[in-house]
Amino acid sequence: MVTQVESHWWARDHLGYRDGRLAFCGRDVAQTAATFAEPLFMYDAQRPIEKLRSIERALNRHAVRHRLFYAMKANRFAPLLCALRADGRYGVDACSPEELREALACGFAPSQISYTSHGMAPDEAALLAALPEVLVNCDTLAAVRMMGAYGTRREIGLRINPGLGIGYGNNERLLYAGRTTKFGIYREQFDEAIALARESGLAVTRLHCHAGCGYLDAQLRAFEAVLDAVCDFADALPGIREINLGGGLGVPHRAADKPLDLDAWAAVIALRTRRLGVTIAVEPGDFVVKDAGLLVLQVNYIEKKRDVVFAGLSGGFNLAVEPAFYDLPCEAAPCVLRDGEPSRVTLAGNINEALDLWASDVMLPPLTTGDYVALLNAGGYAASMSSNHCMRGRFREMLLC
Ligand SMILES: Cc1ncc(COP(=O)(O)O)c(C=O)c1O
Repeated sequence: MVTQVESHWWARDHLGYRDGRLAFCGRDVAQTAATFAEPLFMYDAQRPIEKLRSIERALNRHAVRHRLFYAMKANRFAPLLCALRADGRYGVDACSPEELREALACGFAPSQISYTSHGMAPDEAALLAALPEVLVNCDTLAAVRMMGAYGTRREIGLRINPGLGIGYGNNERLLYAGRTTKFGIYREQFDEAIALARESGLAVTRLHCHAGCGYLDAQLRAFEAVLDAVCDFADALPGIREINLGGGLGVPHRAADKPLDLDAWAAVIALRTRRLGVTIAVEPGDFVVKDAGLLVLQVNYIEKKRDVVFAGLSGGFNLAVEPAFYDLPCEAAPCVLRDGEPSRVTLAGNINEALDLWASDVMLPPLTTGDYVALLNAGGYAASMSSNHCMRGRFREMLLC
């Protein structure tokens, strides 16, 4: 059976069915997965670079002076980081001492690293003091104090909290809004933070704001409101040189999702921030890597329980937590299309937790024990957030060039 790639909303060059078999970056996915004993993450090496280029092009079209950093918390697989480093055009955003060390180990220069952690500890401040070129953003008054105690007259950024959030499908679990969050400095403490920085010998030259995750076109209005709020902060800090808008740009998760229109996104940034004359930094993770990766699992059993047909897969939510934790849709693609009518199936993981379901009651072509299933959009916040829960945490990763 030959299924045309166009019949699947997620199909694109380098990902789709050829003669009924799923191919990814020129590899037969089922054959590749069969050579490994563990669940397998496969990553497209080119796509992250293409995605960063697309952001760059959009910002250039609207004459927005910018710097791009890839948020490595989304995926820190060293070959992937090294490929980005080798490309040479983008920096990296790190959020912990170990991420910082990993970025350095992959060849990024300190000046190419934006560092925004939460809960800074003294040894972290000491490490940063030894790396004066790293672009540090402080997100609490405590962090400003600590950087002051360890640092020498360096420039810092302040991570601010505009009290607004944006996220995929307006999913409340992804929004940094509503309740008081631990992230960033609210407007009412902003003046105090600036004064504290000054007393500590630190110059605040950057603002940083990350206000959500996975936003698409439907959230652009909310993004405008965030930008307006950020500009209010900037107005209170003359001499600011850069505003880092964090990440948060999303990718479609289902057929109905309209991709983010980068041109409209860049136009909004240009319109709202041009009067400030600042450089705009962006540090996306999800947008860059999420749809560059698959998680390939094997079908261990198929069994009907009451009126539900379960297909039990060889890996659970501990390998890619977002569907379970954030209710994000999980699109599954059988790696070999068998003849027969599609039917309803619930894809279960192999972890002893009730929430461990990849997808409930979805229509899929026939599956049989031993088949491989690719879970799409597994390139970001999957391997990097995985755990060894139930001691089923083993997996392999491969980068396809
Ligand atoms: C400070 C900061 N920057 C960037 C990111 C990357 O966000 P995303 O992967 O949604 O683009 C995050 C994600 O949590 C973040 O906290």
